[in-house]
Amino acid sequence: MTGLYELWYDVVKQGQYVHVIEQMHIQYGPIVRINPNELSVRDAQFFDKLHSDSTKKRTHIPSLFSRILGLSGSMVFAPSHEIHRGRRKAVEPFFSRHNIERIEPMIVEQALLLDKRLNEMKISKRVVRLEHAFFAFASDVVGRVCCEIPSNFLQDKDFFPQWYSLFERGARQILPAMHLPLISVILKLIPQTVALKLYPLGATFTMYMTAVTSHIIHAKNQDLSAASVLANPRSSIFRYIVCEKTLPKAEQSVDRLSHEAATLLGAGALTLARSLSMTFYHILANPTIREKLAAELAQPLADIHAHMPRRSELERLPYLRACVREGLRLSYLQLQAVPHCSPDVEFQYHQYTIPKATPIRMSIYFMHTDLEIFPAPFEFLPERWLGKYNPQMDRQFVPFSKGSRNCVGFNLAWAELYILTALLFRPEAPTMQLFNTDASDIRVRDHCFIPLPKSDSRGVRVTIE
Ligand code: HEM
Repeated sequence: MTGLYELWYDVVKQGQYVHVIEQMHIQYGPIVRINPNELSVRDAQFFDKLHSDSTKKRTHIPSLFSRILGLSGSMVFAPSHEIHRGRRKAVEPFFSRHNIERIEPMIVEQALLLDKRLNEMKISKRVVRLEHAFFAFASDVVGRVCCEIPSNFLQDKDFFPQWYSLFERGARQILPAMHLPLISVILKLIPQTVALKLYPLGATFTMYMTAVTSHIIHAKNQDLSAASVLANPRSSIFRYIVCEKTLPKAEQSVDRLSHEAATLLGAGALTLARSLSMTFYHILANPTIREKLAAELAQPLADIHAHMPRRSELERLPYLRACVREGLRLSYLQLQAVPHCSPDVEFQYHQYTIPKATPIRMSIYFMHTDLEIFPAPFEFLPERWLGKYNPQMDRQFVPFSKGSRNCVGFNLAWAELYILTALLFRPEAPTMQLFNTDASDIRVRDHCFIPLPKSDSRGVRVTIE
């Protein structure tokens, strides 16, 4: 078996290898070899075994990605299980449900700002690309989480579309760079000044990272007490890491922490913008769904300035919950080609013994589109989550993955998804109408680093009435 097959479908055909793997599973069964070193398993029962918690087994992801992205200082691309655990432990309390509840007012503030900006567009009659608006929202929230006040993309006239393009295009380049690592070696040799001339968009990222780095240095120098950091709901994650002192000194270097900031931004903004755009497209394209949702939101969001419901109240609204879940189900956001492996335990899969340290991929796309569990899997059907439904749906609904390497930011993501969807579909919200947009503009086609729509999509565009 050769890796060229994967290279052809992932690089030349832009992220289509997952569909070849899908065909392999149909032809050969639930376990297949997909390149000389890796396996793919398509079996929901195995998902929990592979993604177990850290007390059951050590986990590891191969280091190729961190070499290409140059972010080995981050938790996600940590070089070993132990380093990953240490880094993750240092941030888990910050992302706990309890702490995210404390910072909810900041999320609401940013959501209200977006609501206000959309209202203003009623007069200017601008066409808004929702991905840009949501990416600006998610980046401003992550920015506040990382370094208190680094960005105000929501204030930009068009939500600073270049910022979204930078990340979307970047995500499309990662698989080619992974298959052809020489490209990234050559690119790294180009001096920064020349690179910025060739690719001026990179300047915004450099400025952003400079602001983050200054904040980290400031937090380290100030070294506030744990009590004062905790007392302030606007304290950044880095103040928290510095004051907790659970990490060894080397792990608290400015360089290492700035890698963490870059991956938090990467992991927390594009994912959120994609799943919000998916949810909003389907609600806007289906007047019946939109009416039902607005009717459910009418009473709880009747006077948002007197009482903006909290995430805990919003997630109890069944139709809203169903819509948010369907949007997440159809986005199947996952680092596509990142396999997981267990360095010291072998797996038994029916008659097959999988040697330890074998990289194994399990796609969330397969979990979320299983025809037997989710009939009409590519349709947005909130009703499937209402009333008494098949409990296997909950087991196979894994938008944030599972186990010790699941999404550490899932509480933040849920809060952002519920708050923004509720706010912008309440009856008094600015009325959005789709503008020259169809399902092909949002549906996942290219399974790049993360799943994206066709590259010439003009996105989910709306006018405001
Ligand atoms: C709708 C929004 C989001 C979705 C669907 C999502 C999904 C995921 C998934 C599936 C993973 C596991 C990676 C894999 O196995 O491929 C992951 C990891 C991760 N996510 Fe998210 N994510 C979202 C939002 C966020 C946010 C808001 C943050 C934080 C600001 C975040 C930070 C991370 C980090 C740091 C990891 C790596 C965790 C580790 O290595 O231990 N994510 N995410």
